[in-house]
Amino acid sequence: MLELKVILSGAIILTSVVVLWAIIHYFSGPEFKEPDGKARITGSCGDTMEIYLKFRDGRVVDSSCWTDGCTYSYNCVVAAAQMAKGRTPEEILEIDAQKIQDYIGGLPKDHLHCAKLAEETLQAALEDYIKKLVQSQKEKERFTD
Ligand code: FES
Repeated sequence: MLELKVILSGAIILTSVVVLWAIIHYFSGPEFKEPDGKARITGSCGDTMEIYLKFRDGRVVDSSCWTDGCTYSYNCVVAAAQMAKGRTPEEILEIDAQKIQDYIGGLPKDHLHCAKLAEETLQAALEDYIKKLVQSQKEKERFTD
């Protein structure tokens, strides 16, 4: 009887941990449902950044990001994602490493590449959005012909 209680307690604890992990993973994940543009880039330093963009009426209405990098990497990718909000694709093209650095108040010289990686990730997410947009327009034209 004691063994059954131990096994049952273990199963309940294990199930609780799995459910808690799933909840945390679901709510803390960088990707929101169906981003219009997304990118994941690993820089030469080995750090990876992700940016997700959601557009409405030609402007970014929501953005999200993630990195496994250091604090500077995190600050840069968050800045890039924040700076994209409310902007058109043309305006996003103007967001470069220097503007990201300015936004966060500067970087140590040995971490300037963090801003560059954030710029590249943001521009790749924009490129993904534009590719999908062009593809969907081509499909619409095919169906109307
Ligand atoms: Fe790798 Fe910042 S240290 S991106």
